[in-house]
Amino acid sequence: MKEDIKKVLITEEEIKAKVEELGKTLTEDYKDKNPLVICVLRGAVMFLSDLLREIDTFVDMDFMAVSSYEGTTSSGVVNIVKDLSTNVEGRDLLIVEDILDTGRTLDYLIRILKERNPKSVKVCSLLIKKGREEIKVPVDYYGFYIPNEFVVGYGLDYNDKYRNLKYIGILKEEVYS
Ligand code: IMP
Ligand code: MG
Repeated sequence: MKEDIKKVLITEEEIKAKVEELGKTLTEDYKDKNPLVICVLRGAVMFLSDLLREIDTFVDMDFMAVSSYEGTTSSGVVNIVKDLSTNVEGRDLLIVEDILDTGRTLDYLIRILKERNPKSVKVCSLLIKKGREEIKVPVDYYGFYIPNEFVVGYGLDYNDKYRNLKYIGILKEEVYS
């Protein structure tokens, strides 16, 4: 698997340091609010599980799955594949996502969650891809800006593979062909 990676973009150590920093900030911001942290399956799983362990206040978690990607290009249409099991009315919601690319996924999620009358909706995205945004999405917390390249690892996949890399890297071109 590792031989398919052309370049490591963000190391395991850099991810760890950033997750700790975000955890501290979220601990402060969500003290006594008992937020519902919503993990966007499947890409955000690694990030969520590390992030939650850096938060030192009570949080609940739930999972949502949406589809829009096939291979390396977004189909543009977002669908709910798995919905929440929790009633979000009156709750402070924090959506945890792996990457903001065109913004379609997060824009859709924010819109449908707001219709359910939560107290607040905020977004924490590990990555933001530069220069790709088609829809403006308010990201309240983020880890790293990355260049416009297709990345894998630490939850992010190419055709469902490479999620279990400990770092975030760029695939070799020959892997796509
Ligand atoms: P958006 O809707 O275009 O913002 O895309 C967001 C979703 O596309 C993310 O949740 C990822 O699952 C996927 N995605 C976007 N860019 C990448 C990438 O570089 N590598 C892996 N997945 C990506
Ligand atoms: Mg995803």
